[in-house]
Amino acid sequence: MNELKGAINMRKLTALFLSLAMALGLAACSSGTPSPSESNTPETSAPQTSSEEPESSVEAESSGASTSQSDGSEEAESTDGNTLVVYFSATGNTEQAATYIADLTGGDLFELEPADPYTDEDLNYSNEDSRVSQEYEDEALRNVELVADTVENWDSYDTVFIGYPNWWADLPMAVYSFFDEYDFSGKTIIPFNVHNGSRFSRTIQTIGELEPDATVIENGFTVSEQTVADAAPDVAAWLEELGYLGLSDMATEDQVQTGVVTELILEGETGTIHYSYYLPDDYDMETEYPLMVVMPGYDMMWFGEDSSGSNLKWTGFLCWTELPEDMIVVSAQLTDWHETSANQAIELTEYFMEHFSVDASRVYAAGYSAGGETMSQAVSMRPDLYAAYLHGASQWDGEYAPIAANSVAVYIFMAENDEYYGSQRAWDAYNNLHDAYLENGWGEDNIASVLQIQIPDNGWFAERGITGNYHGGGNVVFEEETILSWVISHSK
Ligand SMILES: Cc1cc2nc3c(=O)[nH]c(=O)nc-3n(C[C@H](O)[C@H](O)[C@H](O)COP(=O)(O)O)c2cc1C
Repeated sequence: MNELKGAINMRKLTALFLSLAMALGLAACSSGTPSPSESNTPETSAPQTSSEEPESSVEAESSGASTSQSDGSEEAESTDGNTLVVYFSATGNTEQAATYIADLTGGDLFELEPADPYTDEDLNYSNEDSRVSQEYEDEALRNVELVADTVENWDSYDTVFIGYPNWWADLPMAVYSFFDEYDFSGKTIIPFNVHNGSRFSRTIQTIGELEPDATVIENGFTVSEQTVADAAPDVAAWLEELGYLGLSDMATEDQVQTGVVTELILEGETGTIHYSYYLPDDYDMETEYPLMVVMPGYDMMWFGEDSSGSNLKWTGFLCWTELPEDMIVVSAQLTDWHETSANQAIELTEYFMEHFSVDASRVYAAGYSAGGETMSQAVSMRPDLYAAYLHGASQWDGEYAPIAANSVAVYIFMAENDEYYGSQRAWDAYNNLHDAYLENGWGEDNIASVLQIQIPDNGWFAERGITGNYHGGGNVVFEEETILSWVISHSK
């Protein structure tokens, strides 16, 4: 695994959970359809004793928003420690920022949730009789009772993000209580807040005064409540600036999320990349895994949030997860099937190679329909990256010579009667690649080992229960285990 900081300095990563939505039933293609911290030796710190027993405790939950500028300039370094994202939020704004941070860092979320929630009336700080005004004025009322006030495994956290709204140019009372309660010595505290004009006020200095034995990062993230909803990219940029993006940590066995991890965003140099990935359940950093990058067809591409996740049930994604050999599988939803998408596919591939335990000699690509148009470009732009490519029911938009020059194995599959592309384009791609190999002095046997084409007729499809929509039916290629095996049998 590469060092996080070096690996991502050109990127912003935003991982968000977006709502699952339906695939758009558009014509051309069928559906089928990540912490940080300084390398501090983890301190053995225990919650400070409090006079009251905690009411209850919940385990911090992993989860996953905000505008912003960062104040100050101190840098946090990424570490291998555990990350906790603690927040107080009376009306949900800080919560949004907290969830973005947790998603991005792979940190655990812990809400300072008052047992007696604040009503709008309670929050009316221009009324001196309101609850907040009274709590603020009278220290005896400040110790706000929480639904859960024990952070399980507090000692295990090296880094604590702490989020709060600006209340009277100060920390809300519940946040004061939290600092009172817990021993932060040796930990790194990273503040973030939401405000309606005052930014952090003096709160970061206050935290430093409250926790003199902790490292308090001054370059906190502050965002206006007007813009918090759109601030995910800013959160990602801030985390990157801190050298603190979480996928590096997510990729460690302890913290990594395995199985299908859905609807993530990488803010790459080429723009926003929406993607999901699959990590084997027993993902192990000592093992290097083949990586498969799959690109779906038009109806599973990115058309806004409603389309998010429309590629998750796609056989072309799931089939690789069901093979006997464990693989890491990435499926992106991109916005065009031209050069931008091709560059994004490459960026995503490199991102996974940098942040997960990938066998660089076994990086593969697969594309279906529009996704094939994209991936044929991507593999020809970076033939050094990919060992093999499955080109399903698509047209070849890339170059040919670089494929042959780098002996990227290519399997071309197209229904003889594909309604959308016809089969001639598949033959053209095959013939051009074949010629490119001949030009490189390859003999037929050797070419056959790296270049295959299958153009099944209607009868072949009928045997598989497909009697119409042969373009959409082309997704069946992802059920042909011999083809899948051929693809992943190649290595650099
Ligand atoms: C009691 C109280 C005092 C506040 N004081 C300030 C302030 O001094 N400066 C400011 O910018 N915003 C102030 N606000 C606005 C909040 O910071 C803002 O509404 C924030 O988005 C609330 O976040 P939340 O939804 O996470 O609770 C105050 C809000 C409350 C309820």
